Amino acid sequence: MRMSVIGCGYLGAVHAAAMASIGHDVIGIDVDERKVAALNAGSAPFFEPQLTELLTEGRESGRLRFSDRMADAAGAQVHFLAVGTPQIPGGHAADLRYVDAAIDGLLPHLRPGDVIAGKSTVPVGTAARLATRVADSGATVVWNPEFLREGWAVHDTLTPDRLVVGAEPDAAGERGVAVLREVYAAAVEAGTPFLVTDLATAELVKGAANAFLATKISFINAMAEIADASGADVALLADALGHDSRIGRRYLGAGIGFGGGCLPKDIRAFAARAEELGRGEAVGFLHEVDAINLRRRERAVQLVVDALGGLVFGRRIAVLGAAFKPFSDDIRDSPGLDVAVRLRGLGADVVVTDPAALDNAAAAHPQLGYARDRNDALREADAVVIVTEWDEYRRDLSPAHAGGLVRGRIIIDGRNCLDAAAWRAAGWQYHGMGRR
Ligand code: UGA
Repeated sequence: MRMSVIGCGYLGAVHAAAMASIGHDVIGIDVDERKVAALNAGSAPFFEPQLTELLTEGRESGRLRFSDRMADAAGAQVHFLAVGTPQIPGGHAADLRYVDAAIDGLLPHLRPGDVIAGKSTVPVGTAARLATRVADSGATVVWNPEFLREGWAVHDTLTPDRLVVGAEPDAAGERGVAVLREVYAAAVEAGTPFLVTDLATAELVKGAANAFLATKISFINAMAEIADASGADVALLADALGHDSRIGRRYLGAGIGFGGGCLPKDIRAFAARAEELGRGEAVGFLHEVDAINLRRRERAVQLVVDALGGLVFGRRIAVLGAAFKPFSDDIRDSPGLDVAVRLRGLGADVVVTDPAALDNAAAAHPQLGYARDRNDALREADAVVIVTEWDEYRRDLSPAHAGGLVRGRIIIDGRNCLDAAAWRAAGWQYHGMGRR
């Protein structure tokens, strides 16, 4: 099937490459010429496992191209909208300017029967508004939210755990659903649940899913606060809770909390939209989820300060990690970088290292020190803080090796990812988050 993907960021570039890999003829559109050039050359403009391979494969097959001209989307049967919906400057709502600009650009090229499939995370009601905007063109709007996780984006796109398509309950809507069923035929045949809903429900599924995940993380982080105050261990608590299949262990990782380009801004946009709908109190708990999450960063900083006896000024602190999570170079709202910035603000001599996100971090926070080599970051450090659980730190860093490099054997495990007993046995003062 001929399709366009408008917006080639973390979501769109992966979607375009994945669709080409299952046999579709795909044109990716983005306003950023440099990104388009990189993608056309088969190079991923950001770190995402398996993406480079898919881009190369797509280029060689001739089924995948990228362009900065919206006119090149003309003739596609389906147009996927994959542009960003960041937090509005100075507020909590989603900024829909890129969604509207994409529709503005697409309108002159739409033909009757074209399907516009929204993938961007939008406030409920957006799809219906866009449907009205494009009505005269004869195109149909359906909503097909995306649930991919960065670092697993190719895997999640090719083998999703569910497909959701929202459409109007009319003949055009039904046709739109049928077209998407064809797009995802391979996954549907493999047994992936294909759920058809109205437009509003499809939009809500995405917001609700991210709100739930954020709530689950903040729930366990709230328990970490109680564990800290009562001498309990939140990691053992999470293991015990997780055995209840109604609860499950995933997303019960306590630590410095969630970040990234999705969960933080999505829960705020969700609450902002609920308030517009006069139902703010229904999701009032999301403000608490946000507040618990932000307190975790403060807690990590406090642990460092306390471990250093209150004397942080001029002390050298190695921060292991900058990306908001492993297998990503994304530093958007990275809790770990926030911890590094706060420590720097207290006068510490902070050195950050990360296997993938160092350049992004250095561009955003030039006031921090950076070391490409993990050992250089550790050398002469008075304290070490793990903020991103990369294998390089979680699995491959031995307490004895690190102990030979640092000045002070103090480690703050911001992701509760280390074997506390092993670090203590090697003479380290170990501090987890909500752990004994
Ligand atoms: C999230 C959702 O998981 C995806 O389903 C969704 O499609 C995506 O947002 C989106 O809206 O585009 P992502 O932002 O890639 O995906 O990251 P997650 O793997 O969900 O992690 C988010 C944050 O939560 C990270 O900072 C991670 O370190 C933190 N986290 C995760 C915890 O602190 N504890 C946990 O137990 C799990």
